Parts: sequence; structure tokens; C-alpha cells
Amino acid sequence: MPDYKVKNPKLATQGKLQIEWAHMHMPVLNQIKQRFEKEKPLKNLTLGACLHVTKETGVLMGTFLAAGAHVALCGSNPLSTQDEVAAALADRGVNVYAWRGQTNEEYYWCVNKVIDQKPNITLDDGADLVTTLHTKKIKATAKIKGGTEETTTGVLRLRQMEKKGALKYPIVAVNDAYTKYLFDNRYGTGQSTLDGILRATNILFAGKTFVVCGFGWCGRGLANRARGMGAHVIVTEVNPIRALEAAMDGFQVMPIERAALVGDVFVTLTGDTSIIRKEHMQKMKDGAILANSGHFNVEIKIPDLEALAVSKRTIRPNLEEYTLKNGGKLYLLGEGRLINLASAEGHPSEVMDMSFANQALSVEHLAKNQKLKPKVYDVPKEIDETVARLKLRAIDIEIDDLTKEQKKYLSSWEEGTI
Ligand SMILES: NC(=O)c1ccc[n+]([C@@H]2O[C@H](COP(=O)([O-])OP(=O)(O)OC[C@H]3O[C@@H](n4cnc5c(N)ncnc54)[C@H](O)[C@@H]3O)[C@@H](O)[C@H]2O)c1
Repeated sequence: MPDYKVKNPKLATQGKLQIEWAHMHMPVLNQIKQRFEKEKPLKNLTLGACLHVTKETGVLMGTFLAAGAHVALCGSNPLSTQDEVAAALADRGVNVYAWRGQTNEEYYWCVNKVIDQKPNITLDDGADLVTTLHTKKIKATAKIKGGTEETTTGVLRLRQMEKKGALKYPIVAVNDAYTKYLFDNRYGTGQSTLDGILRATNILFAGKTFVVCGFGWCGRGLANRARGMGAHVIVTEVNPIRALEAAMDGFQVMPIERAALVGDVFVTLTGDTSIIRKEHMQKMKDGAILANSGHFNVEIKIPDLEALAVSKRTIRPNLEEYTLKNGGKLYLLGEGRLINLASAEGHPSEVMDMSFANQALSVEHLAKNQKLKPKVYDVPKEIDETVARLKLRAIDIEIDDLTKEQKKYLSSWEEGTI
């Protein structure tokens, strides 16, 4: 019997159906799973994972079980666990510690339960597992061969650890693979953020002024999709190159201070802190909606909103109304946590197929390679290209191969204007 703690083990049947549905849309991971089933590359290894417990994560965990690993899993956000998936995974033999709606204390209790399983390889989304290990359980890092990191914010934290000499074992930055961020962050976050806002509010986007804070990979995806639904999109940025790109993509670009006056919906996706603060909230239109899709719930300064409000009530799930001293109302979605996971189901399976194929192959890479140093590594190019080729094949797209002549031409320098 595996050790686990989930909300309701009776939800397992429902969870299995969800995982089955995701499985159907994850052909690349399925092919990897079939190979893992035969080769058992993770035999006798314990994996400790801190990931959003969604149906797609369910498929990834099944892939690791097929590879012969023992798996312990906790959620990587207090509001993102799909309870039926957690129940199904517990039923399949995963040591899962996750439920939706955790306190901070419960969240870290679960992270520590995963560490207690003495993992040989860690998988993180936001680096909370790695930081807990490095700050509170440093001895446990001695047994760890390596780890992977799923998201931009986690990679940023890990690169800082490497720079300061604090990192004790190698990490593969899965987020930075082309077949991850170009698709997952852009199309996945773009679509699922809108999905989360719609499920919380059911508002019409057409004609609304929609403010996207941060024009990174996630922000680009969201801005384009919001425009596609008829919103008038404003972008705020601090990076001059990205701001210019947004302007030339046809978005209006301005500081948050000005955008605060005109926006109907605000979404932060910067990986930074305190993007929307008191001075902005005070200027906003009555009825403005605030949501975050960046990793942590620090992008909208919620303590400022609490301080400005005279009252607060829950209108419907994931929709909190704050009445300000001036009588105006602001609406906060999903407690300022990643709205696509708090209020919807996270990214669609088709993009998680590629992100998690990178995870599976990177874990295999760590298991096979003993000589990696405690640094942050890119996903090997061969893995990235394998994932792209498998995905193309799965969606029935053929591409050209370089001819001999083209290979020679591209690797020479003598031939110029003729
Ligand atoms: N919701 C999800 O499912 C999901 C998925 C992937 C990534 N993420 C998270 O979303 C965040 C963004 O990820 P990304 O890959 O787009 O990162 P990115 O680094 O590509 O983009 C972030 C952008 O925000 C800008 N920025 C930083 N501070 C700002 C400020 N004060 N005002 C305006 N813009 C500012 C940066 O200049 C940059 O262009 C991260 O926290 C990441 O972990 C969430």
C-alpha cells in the first residue's frame, strides 16, 4: 500500500477517466512510455516530483511507473491540484500528497513528505522542492543525481542558486527547451489563461480593454489570443526590446500607471513581483477584473487590495469582490494564483505532451549520466529535436530533408554572389 494524502480516494474512478482523456492527446509521451515499458530505464530509482497535479501530470507519472521508477508527488501550487487525478494516482501506487485548497503550512508539509521518500531525481515546477531541500534538508541532496525544472520562474531561481554557489546537484532546465516554451508558455498559457478568466467570470472579451503585463512567451500568447477574441489589448513591459516587439505587433504599449486608468481586465505574467500595486488599484475603473498567470501570487499586491477594501465577498468560485473606500469595486480572480490552473485545468494536453516528453527524456538523461556537475543545464539538443520530430509525426506533418548539395552549401563559405 503506498503512503498518500489526497482529498477523497473515492474520486479515483473519475480521475482515471480524466487521465485517459489526456492520454489520448499526448502521442509523443505515449511513444516514450512504450519504450520505457520495454527498457525500464528508471528501475530502482525514486523520483520526487513537485508539479501541478493535473490529468497531464497523471500521464507523466504513468510513464515513470512504466519505466520502473517509484514515484512520490506533491502539488506545486496550493490551488492547482485536480483532486480526482490525485486520487487516481494514489490508487495506481504513486505516493501522492496533494489536494486543492491547501494552507501554506499544508503545502510545505506535502513538499517535505516527498523529500522523506529520499528521491534520487527531483522534478520541480517553480523550484520550491529544490529550495526546501537546499535550505532545510541539505543532507538529503547528497543522494540526488539530478533534477529538472518546468517553468521560467523556477529556472530563474535555480540560475541564481548556481551563481551563488548554493546548488548541490545538476538541474536540467526543461522550460528552456524550444519544444517547451515556444508552445507551452505561448499557446498553452495563452489559451488556458483566457479559459480560466472565462470560467471565473463568463464575461465577453470583445470590445473590452485587456491589459497584459509582461510580453514574454506567456504574455505574447495571451495578448494574441485576447486580440483574436475582439479585445483591445494594451501591453506593459520593462524590457525595451519586448516593448518594441509588442508595439510592432500592433499592441498599444504604455506604463501600468496609465493602463490602470483604462483597463477592464488586467493579467500579470511577468515572473516578477508587485506589478499591480495600491497606486494602480486606486485609479482603476469601477468593476475592473484582476488576474495573474505568472508562477507566484506576488504579481498583484494582494495585501494592498486588502488594505484598500472596506469589504469583500465571494461572488462565485474564483471570483472575489473587493469594495474600496471610494465605493468602487475590484474583482480578484483565483486569489491571485495562476488563473489557468486555479480556475481552469491548466494547459491543454497537446502542449503538455511536448513539455512532459522533455521531462521524461531529461529524467532518463539524468539517470544515465553520472558525471554532471551541480549546474543548470539546457535540455540536450537531440532531446529537443526528437520531441519536435515525434510531435510532427504524430500530427501527420512531413517536412523536407536537406539534400547533399544543400548540406555542403550550408557548411561552406567560399560560394557567394554568382
Ligand atoms: N500559468 C502557467 O501555466 C504558466 C506557464 C508557463 C510559465 N508561467 C510563469 O509565467 C511567468 C512568465 O513566464 P514567461 O515564460 O512568459 O517569462 P519571460 O521571461 O519570457 O517573460 C516575462 C516578461 O515580463 C517582463 N517583466 C518583468 N517585470 C515586469 C514589470 N515590472 N512590468 C512589466 N513587465 C515586466 C519581462 O521583461 C519579460 O518580457 C513566469 O512566472 C513563469 O514561471 C506560467
